[in-house]
Amino acid sequence: MKKIFAANWKMRPTSEREAEKLFSLLARMAQKNKYRVLLASPSLFLSPLVSQKKKVVLGIQDGFYETEGAYTGEISFPMAKSAGARFTLVGHSERRNIFQEDDELVAKKVSAALRAGLVVILCIGESPSLRKKGERVTQKFLSLQLSRSLSRIPKGGEKNIILAYEPIWAIGTGKNMMPREAGKVISFLKQESQRHFGRVFPVLYGGSVDAKNISAFFKESAIDGALVGGASAEYKKLDALQSALS
Ligand code: PGA
Repeated sequence: MKKIFAANWKMRPTSEREAEKLFSLLARMAQKNKYRVLLASPSLFLSPLVSQKKKVVLGIQDGFYETEGAYTGEISFPMAKSAGARFTLVGHSERRNIFQEDDELVAKKVSAALRAGLVVILCIGESPSLRKKGERVTQKFLSLQLSRSLSRIPKGGEKNIILAYEPIWAIGTGKNMMPREAGKVISFLKQESQRHFGRVFPVLYGGSVDAKNISAFFKESAIDGALVGGASAEYKKLDALQSALS
């Protein structure tokens, strides 16, 4: 299977023009056919980017679990699907921490997104304080976060799930995990997904991936790709990433 390069722009860039400029780099990367290139786009830019008909697989970063109704400010997964999204992130640590999303809410969103026909990239990862408690405690936490976040998947939904392992202490901090260590945790998550759901989900690593370290992550056989935040949302950094991968 080709490795996945998934960009997560978060709440960036400010204008559609900048988004198109950044997107042209992703489109170039996708054109080379070496990797599967995905973009979790800010919802506002989804339609204009979809209309460019490039090889980049487009998705959104979050959505609400109801299909429609009086939920001011929210967007639904069926809306995203009809605008051309093929996947969504769910349970990103910024959603869990800043917007207080718990496993139960995440599970409802996962279920709604799968029912809408989207692939779900479920984000999980431990906090720095938990990591300090050691490997056993961390593994227990990750296993529980995984099973709880996926407690409501509809029948057959397993085949549309990808995991992103993102240790919270590594997100946006420049402190990436050592690739071998990430590979170890990811192998554990694959075992756990087989145990809980009878299927080995593909797993991406996320957390301070950049042009300098991406090749080392891609060399680990257990790691199916990367979810890249900061380094995918700035033209220069994304250009460097693209060169590192070509
Ligand atoms: P980062 O973010 O690459 O900026 O660390 C990754 C993510 O949050 O998905």
